[in-house]
Amino acid sequence: MSSVLDSKTAITLASNAMSKAYVPYSEFKVGAVIETENGNVYSGCNVENAAYPEGTCAEAGAIAAMVLDGEHKIDNIYVMGNGDQLVTPCGGCRQKIREFSTPDTQIHICGPEGVRKSLTMEELLPFSFGPENLKK
Ligand code: THU
Repeated sequence: MSSVLDSKTAITLASNAMSKAYVPYSEFKVGAVIETENGNVYSGCNVENAAYPEGTCAEAGAIAAMVLDGEHKIDNIYVMGNGDQLVTPCGGCRQKIREFSTPDTQIHICGPEGVRKSLTMEELLPFSFGPENLKK
């Protein structure tokens, strides 16, 4: 696992992604940046919808960009939002990240000032169900 993305650059990219969020309803911007095992980087932002449940999270956008580019292994994912609370991935996003995780994948919860907390997938979603669970 070789990281080309230092945390300062990741924070800048997450902040840029966050600034693009389309959030007319919640007004809560989220940015996500993925670094893959091959050192490629993908960003996403949340995109809300007048039909509220159709909105998508920042993590989902970054994962879609990664998959479109043929990548399937997340080494690091940075998730950034404003406010004092940790902007931890929602339940659905934990499962989405899980699909492309390894035991080494790090989930970095960020505020505009930097990384606030780094977690493994096991910490974020213990006893999770993943692709291996489907093996007969
Ligand atoms: N949101 C994300 O983009 N990622 C998360 O993991 C948490 C929530 C978005 C969804 C919605 O647009 C806004 O934050 C408020 O819930």
